[in-house]
Parts: sequence; C-alpha cells; structure tokens
Amino acid sequence: MSEQTLENLLKEDRTFPPPPEFAAHANGTAELYAQADADFEGCWAEQARTYVTWSKDFTQVLDWNPPFATWFADGELNACWNALDKHVEAGNGDRVAIHFIGEPEGDTKDYTYSELHDQVQRAANALSALGVGTGDTVAIYLPMIPEAVIAMLACARLGAPHSVVFGGFSSEALRTRIDDASAKVVITADGGYRRGKPSSLKPAVDAALVHGDDVTSVTNVLVVRRTGQDTAWTDGRDLWWHEALAAAEPTHEAVPVGAEHPLFILYTSGTTGKPKGILHTTGGFLTQCAYTSSVVHDVHPESDVYWCTADIGWVTGHSYIVYGPMTLGATQVIYEGTPDTPHQGRFWEIVQDYGVTILYTAPTAIRTFMKWGEEIPAKFDMSSLRLLGSVGEPINPEAWMWYRRVIGGDRCPVVDTWWQTETGAIMISPLPGVSAAVPGSAMRAIPGIVADVLDEAGDPVPDGGGGYLVITKPWPAMLRTVYGDDQRYKDTYWGRYDGVYFAGDGAKKDVDGDIWVLGRVDDVMNISGHRLSTTEIESALVSHPKVAEAAVVGAADVTTGQAVCAFVILRSEAVEEADDVGEGAELVQELRTHVAREIGPIAKPRQIMIVEELPKTRSGKIMRRLLRDVAENREVGDVTTLADSSVMDLIKAGLGGTGSS
Ligand code: WTA
Repeated sequence: MSEQTLENLLKEDRTFPPPPEFAAHANGTAELYAQADADFEGCWAEQARTYVTWSKDFTQVLDWNPPFATWFADGELNACWNALDKHVEAGNGDRVAIHFIGEPEGDTKDYTYSELHDQVQRAANALSALGVGTGDTVAIYLPMIPEAVIAMLACARLGAPHSVVFGGFSSEALRTRIDDASAKVVITADGGYRRGKPSSLKPAVDAALVHGDDVTSVTNVLVVRRTGQDTAWTDGRDLWWHEALAAAEPTHEAVPVGAEHPLFILYTSGTTGKPKGILHTTGGFLTQCAYTSSVVHDVHPESDVYWCTADIGWVTGHSYIVYGPMTLGATQVIYEGTPDTPHQGRFWEIVQDYGVTILYTAPTAIRTFMKWGEEIPAKFDMSSLRLLGSVGEPINPEAWMWYRRVIGGDRCPVVDTWWQTETGAIMISPLPGVSAAVPGSAMRAIPGIVADVLDEAGDPVPDGGGGYLVITKPWPAMLRTVYGDDQRYKDTYWGRYDGVYFAGDGAKKDVDGDIWVLGRVDDVMNISGHRLSTTEIESALVSHPKVAEAAVVGAADVTTGQAVCAFVILRSEAVEEADDVGEGAELVQELRTHVAREIGPIAKPRQIMIVEELPKTRSGKIMRRLLRDVAENREVGDVTTLADSSVMDLIKAGLGGTGSS
C-alpha cells in the first residue's frame, strides 16, 4: 500500500453499526469479549462443549510449551461424526446440506445430511478396503464437486489425515505434496468444468506418480467420473469411485480419535521454494471453525443458505465449507465454476435462485465485479442476503463500500475476516451484531484471540502506529507444526519474537486501535488471494534450461491485488537467440508456460523481463524493492546499498518496452 493510502486509512471516519434487527438475533454478542477476557481457557472450554460433541469429554483445556500447544488433549471425538451423524441423529437428516451447482447450466443436485451421511460411510468403507487406516494420509485432487467434501469427511471418519491439493496445481506440485506426506491413496476425477469446457485432472495424477526407479507411496487412485472424458487407466491401481462406493458396505462407525489427532495437512507457500505442510489437529480446529461460523458468519442452520465461494483446495474451503458450517448443520451452496460462466451475472443468479443469505468471498472477486459494472448484479433479486464476508487479502475501502452498497443493498453488515492457513480459523474480524465496522479494517481480534501490532523491538505500537501483526496467546485452531519439520515451524513463526506468533503480515492500528492488515512483509505474494512465494517461482524459472538467474516480485495490480513480475537473466547460449525481438517474445511465452507447468496456471507471471543484471546488495541479496519500483513503473528508490549502482540504469535501459508480455 502506498503512503497515501496509509494516510487515508487513519482518516476513515465512515462506520456502520449493525442494524438493530440483525443485532437482536446475532449469535456473537458483546458479552463474549468480556467473558473471554475474564477467563481465557474457560471461555474456550465452553465453546468446545457448545459447538462440538465429544465421545469422551476433556478435563484439560490448554497445555502450552511454547511454541507447542495441545488443546483439549484428553478429549476424544470424530470430526466427521460432528459434521454428519450428529445432525442425522438429531432428526435433521432431511435438511439440505449441499445445493451443488455444476458449471454447465442445469447441472445441479441437492444432498441432504442423510444422503451425505450414506455416501461418506460408503466412501470410508471403500478407503478402508484399500488399506487406509487411522493415521494414513490420503491426497485429494478434485474439482469443486460434492465428492471433494465426501472424500474429506470419509478421511476424517477414519482418522486418516487428508492432504487436499488445489485442482489448479500442476502434476509437479502434486508430486511433491504426495511425496512429502507419503500419501497412500489419491482421490481425483477424470476432469472438471472450467470456463465452459471440460478440463482433465487424472493425467496430472498419472504424471505425478511416475518416479523413475523410485517407488511411490501411493497404492491406489480413486477416480470420480465427472466429465466422462477418455482417461488412461492403470489396472490394479486405478478404481472408479462410483464402483468402489457401490461395492462398499453401507454403514461405518466413525472412529473416535484424540483431540490432538491430525485432521489434515495443507501445503502453503513460504519464503523458501519448498511449500510447508501445515498440520492441523482435530478438537481445537473443529471448535474454532464452528465457533467462528456461528459468531462471525452468524450461521443459523435452520434458516440460512450459506455460500462460501472458495475452492476446497485452500484453507477457506476446509474451514468454511467443510468443518465450520457442517459442524453447525448449515445448508450451503457449492458452485463448481467461474463467476463469468456462462455470463457475468452467474453469482447473482445463484444468490437469487437459492435465496442465499450469507455470502463469503474474496476482495479480488469483488474488484472484478466492480469492473464488470453494477448493472449486472442489479438485474437480480438479492434481497435474501443478510451478511457479507471478505477474506484472503486486504480489502480496499472502495471495494468494501461497493460490496456493501451494490451486493448488500446497504443493509447487510460486512465482515472483513483476517486469518491464515496456519491460524486454521478466523482470528480478526468484526462481530456482525456488535461491531461498528469501518470500511477496509478487519477491526479487532475476535473474543478468545489476542492479537497485537509490534515494532521491531517487540513493543506494542501505539494507536496510529504501524508494525508487525502478531498473536500473543495460543489459540485452539493453531497449526501444531510444519509437517515433518519442527525446526521450520519454530523458525518461521516463533523466531522473531519470543513466545509470540508472527503472522508474516504488516498492520497498522488506527486512532481507535482498530487493526488494518496491510499485507505480507516477507517474500510471499498474494495473487487473487492465493499465496505464492517469490522463491518458488524463481526456482521454477531457473529450472528452465535457458535461464541462468531469476528474481520475482509481486507488483500491485488493480484486480488481483498483486501480480507476478519476473526478471530473468538468460544463459549465454540463449542470449543471442533472444536478441532478436521476435524470438525474445516467444521465449517469454515459453517461460510463462514453463512456470504454469511447474507450479500451476495461477503462478504464471504477468510479465517477464529479460535483463542482463539483477540489483544485488554487497552480500548478494537481490533487492526486490528496486525491482518492484520498475515493475510498478515508479521512480527507482534508494540504490546506495547496491553493489553496483549502475545496474538499475542497465535494467531500465534494457527494458525499452520489449521482452515483456
Ligand atoms: C492475507 C487465507 C488482509 C494475509 C484465509 C495472510 C488478509 C494471508 C486477510 C493468508 C484480510 C487473509 N485482510 N489480508 N481479511 N485475510 N489475508 O493462508 O496476508 O491463504 O497472511 O489464508 O492472506 O493466506 P492463506
């Protein structure tokens, strides 16, 4: 964010208190703050017992040996039982759990809680027939279809941690994730629908399982038939999902596990090339997901139609499609496709047709809708909406105001929710029935969470000051470690301040003490709400035979928040070729495609600039700040710490409008 924006933040004086009728029925109340302040552990114990059903109650709440925590450790439960059986047993089996809307028009299907329960029991038996037991990891690589939810819950039912890999990731990314977690089974589909066309998934799994002479940990691949496209088949390894489920026993007892039993691993980009396997456990995670679905999203399961537009491959899909809302017994919409297929009003048509009451989406989507124009949502009746949520990146006040006015009809509270893959659940957000929300601010830590903004020395900044966003007390849904790498867990999150969790974000407190999250302060980029590390993309570029060195920065982008910009030094053999402008442009395309193949299309650089030198400090560290100036067409800042201060002139002279795309 620019200095100008920072200044503006402090002057924001628009506030939106909750409408009285909303406040009157809101789950989250002002008393919760006082209750949590007065008795931190007692408050969490109460949430754990209110929102989660335990097959064995816990006696111990928190055990904190910084930076390792256990929550509710001697309790036992099953997450899948809480998401399904609990509701069926309570007599709510006929309630719709999922209104599934496929991308092709007319491709819809509703699943009641009973129907999901049936499917999940069969899926658990099918997995167990393949030798998946408690503690075995299952990789899930699926489009946004109900089978993704069914697969995750079937794993949870067995106590087999799932590792969901976003369907937009490449086979290479899938391979490293499968290998890191030693997954036993992969659940995938022949393909999915994206922008009006079937696109394949299974070939990426086939490629990921080829290991030269090494043996893969994967023994079987379960394949959902979604598109019906031709699919290569490895006999003995590959099985159709529908056949395996049909052959499976119809009933399955959920396996009670200890509260600290691993529920899932989810990989996220860090500041090095190797993604981190964020490990979440069962009891604390489920507690905080369900609690926040209730007090922040204000889900009233008997009357709401909830819709979170995230993909199941990201943490938002885990916490706020599967575990939070389903533990409450909510009815929700799951939509497979993109917002503009077949027309730019698709989202609003869904809101109208299904009577969506709560919408949870990302600022990048909101900015895209703004660009498309408000006449599009105006064509639909969206009067069912009563609450709007935002997640994934800072939401600028203009987008916040547009969201509230155009989508929320000026009547729906907007909750800007800050959290991370690592935090597992919402940490900083207004409570929609309590807080007077300020456009662009995530406001304050929710009851039970203690956040602050610290300066370099570790002292809290005064109101009006900026610094590093931290969490000063452990919380139930916190990551327990980086899978297989405790040291990285300690160094990454707990290394900057003693006993305090550093989130990697910069933040500012305004004059009222409300928190404004400003974005990452490390080498992690946020592209359309997706986390990507600069180093990961640099490694992908350098793995191309023509590239000698690469530096990647995230440059501001009006729609996607940030965009990937790469600076590349070619190997000498490739330089001559690229000297010719035509071939240079071709090479840039080749490199972009290469990154998409190595990581996934979301990582494709918006721009690649071929340069002769990169700006480095005397110790050899690339000065990304200067490259960002170039990528954002700014006057280049202070170059005095550069080993060779003429490098920036060289870069600027060399660019001259060519070599980028
Ligand atoms: C950013 C997504 C500002 C932040 C749930 C964080 C936000 C990263 C917000 C985590 C928000 C998320 N305001 N920034 N409301 N929500 N972020 O792990 O930089 O995919 O560190 O989790 O997204 O991204 P992740």
